[in-house]
Amino acid sequence: MKKATLFILFLIPLWPWAVHAQQNRMWVPADKDKIYIRLAESGARFDADDLYHPGRPSFNDAVVQFNGGCSGGIISDQGLLITNHHCGYGAIRAHSTLKHNYIRDGFWAKSLDEELPNPGMYVTIVRKVYDVTDQVLQGVTDDMDESLRQSRIDENINRLKDTFRLPSWMDLEVKPFLYGNKYYAFVTETFRDVRLVGAPPSSIGKFGADTDNWMWPRHSGDFALFRIYADKNNRPAEYSEDNVPYRPVKWFKVSLQGVDEGDLVVVYGFPGRTRQYLPSFAVRHITEKVNPLRIAVREKALEIMDRHMRSNDTLKLMYTAHYARVANYWKKWKGENIGIRRARAVEQKEALEKELLSHPDASVAREAEEVLDSLRALYAALEAPDLARALLVEAFYINNDWTRRAFILYAMENEKPDRFEEKRSEYITRIMREFRTTDNRVSEELFRAMWEFYRTRMPREFRDSTLAAMDADSLARKIAAESILADSTKFLRVASLSPEEFQKALKNDSGYALARRLIQSYYGKIFPAYQSAQKGMNALMRRYVAVLEKSNRTRPLVPDANGTLRISFGKVAGYRPRDGMYYEPVTTIDGVVEKYIPGDYEFDLPEEFLKLYAARDFGPYAEDGTLPVNFLATAHTTGGNSGSPVLNADGDLVGVNFDRVWEGTMSDLFYDPRISRNISVDTRYVMFIIDKLGKAVNLVNEIQAVK
Ligand code: ARG
Ligand code: GLU
Repeated sequence: MKKATLFILFLIPLWPWAVHAQQNRMWVPADKDKIYIRLAESGARFDADDLYHPGRPSFNDAVVQFNGGCSGGIISDQGLLITNHHCGYGAIRAHSTLKHNYIRDGFWAKSLDEELPNPGMYVTIVRKVYDVTDQVLQGVTDDMDESLRQSRIDENINRLKDTFRLPSWMDLEVKPFLYGNKYYAFVTETFRDVRLVGAPPSSIGKFGADTDNWMWPRHSGDFALFRIYADKNNRPAEYSEDNVPYRPVKWFKVSLQGVDEGDLVVVYGFPGRTRQYLPSFAVRHITEKVNPLRIAVREKALEIMDRHMRSNDTLKLMYTAHYARVANYWKKWKGENIGIRRARAVEQKEALEKELLSHPDASVAREAEEVLDSLRALYAALEAPDLARALLVEAFYINNDWTRRAFILYAMENEKPDRFEEKRSEYITRIMREFRTTDNRVSEELFRAMWEFYRTRMPREFRDSTLAAMDADSLARKIAAESILADSTKFLRVASLSPEEFQKALKNDSGYALARRLIQSYYGKIFPAYQSAQKGMNALMRRYVAVLEKSNRTRPLVPDANGTLRISFGKVAGYRPRDGMYYEPVTTIDGVVEKYIPGDYEFDLPEEFLKLYAARDFGPYAEDGTLPVNFLATAHTTGGNSGSPVLNADGDLVGVNFDRVWEGTMSDLFYDPRISRNISVDTRYVMFIIDKLGKAVNLVNEIQAVK
């Protein structure tokens, strides 16, 4: 028996499989040859030219990068845009007042003139993508010194840009991929008049909030609607009353067909960052050193905030948004660590590295050995500065109210004298916003806890021994009693002094002096040490990725996510989160109502929604007597993919991407097809909310729904 297993193991060619398992799976639209291969095996009824074509309308024309950090899809010939509720949250909140509480009650514009402008908001469409590697790397050689290499590349890019001659409303961006082994150019259009059209109440759009975040089974209606406006020539323009709805060359029809297990889905959007090709020891560094530190700091901060928020409604309101932001990645890192262990990612990467070292091509083996040895040394040198950096950022910037505002104050203190007056009010606004969303009862406790982290967890070579000897309780009491960091009235008085008096007041504030000393240790010592340890990293990773590529030419590497437009193929599929458990891929409205907790801040539901449910009035959106809500698929996605259109085999919109499952979030470092899943909201649930709950007949008529 044993022998047989062993024998079979030897028959399985470990090598190509190992490489394949460690591939990024977010395709660059310009890499048609690779996409053809994926498409052929996928069952799609569209072809690669529909996905992307530089010369005629294609799906990319209906995909947007939404306000820098999210994605979105165009769903009408009038520039109607769908993205996530959590991506539009800031805008929805900005328009909310006590009288018109769109966060609580939702918002539906019943006509164009009710749509709400959002100063500063923008969306970007990618029109063309070119592989410009040859042009950018012209004259660049392997033995070139890094700075010479970079200046040659910069020259080449500038020369390349000159050859494009784009019209004034288009931009060109050239970006490195695979650590500089490849370069692509993007021709884009950015629209700056984007108006809010519709949003469900938070109880739908954020249903399950932090408890359900990163989790399955999920029941969230995480979508919002916006509209792109253009000038009379249909070109991008700053906000103007005279602007008109943008007429896109391509928009997605909304499918009411739904999905079944095994169906193809294509996620088209702007994933932010993956690091799929890191060596085993780098993944160890992240999951065994950095993540645990950040998780521990955030866990403490969350515990403190939660306790206060539960005891007091005012504090709850103040800290809600901050709490959600801190909790989001706290939870993600925890899931990431679990997933890395379950997928045996480090072991698999170690096996791959071993294979590289004994590669049949001796030059590959030699180069691999050299690069891996250097990378290992670099990671050893990086450990202390990287942990110091993470600790300082977490304990004094993200999770510490008093010292977070000290960072802004520090910038104000060091503002160029001739710009001080001009920027003064901007600084004051930023710091006052901090005061308004924090309370000293919480801040003081946070400060004490964070101080303990500094004393006990800051790597010794970066710890200021004078500071570390100070007692947290007396420090906190002193700041609370005396410092401008804890007193907005005092702060306002100091901030409006003459520049000289302002500087003097800061010198006399012992709380701020303490914070300044920490901030200076960051900028003066920790960050430079981190940077110098990092130096050479990119060059080595570039060589490492080149070795990986060379080691197996049949599977060209797909570049890590870098905020550019990508296509990710997947199948609708459940998964086994743990031994003995299976998660089905589709949830329904019955599950929404099962989770309902009246009055709860995460699981409450609108009365009208419950009425529709009781009457099982799901309109034309039902399937088998119920209404599908969210579904899982195997598409490789990451942060930034929120709001990405999810297309079926006909290229119609079946969902909007908004999250991943907890056990699979390690896909940023190591995608595992067994447990990595993206989560989408079903377009039938979206249409049900717009139609039946929002009664936005105008939008239902505008959207082209297909069965
Ligand atoms: N996890 C999703 C993402 O990474 C949703 C985050 C927003 N929701 C929240 N509860 N914080 O962005
Ligand atoms: N919620 C994430 C975002 O805002 C997407 C989820 C993920 O990280 O995959 O982009």
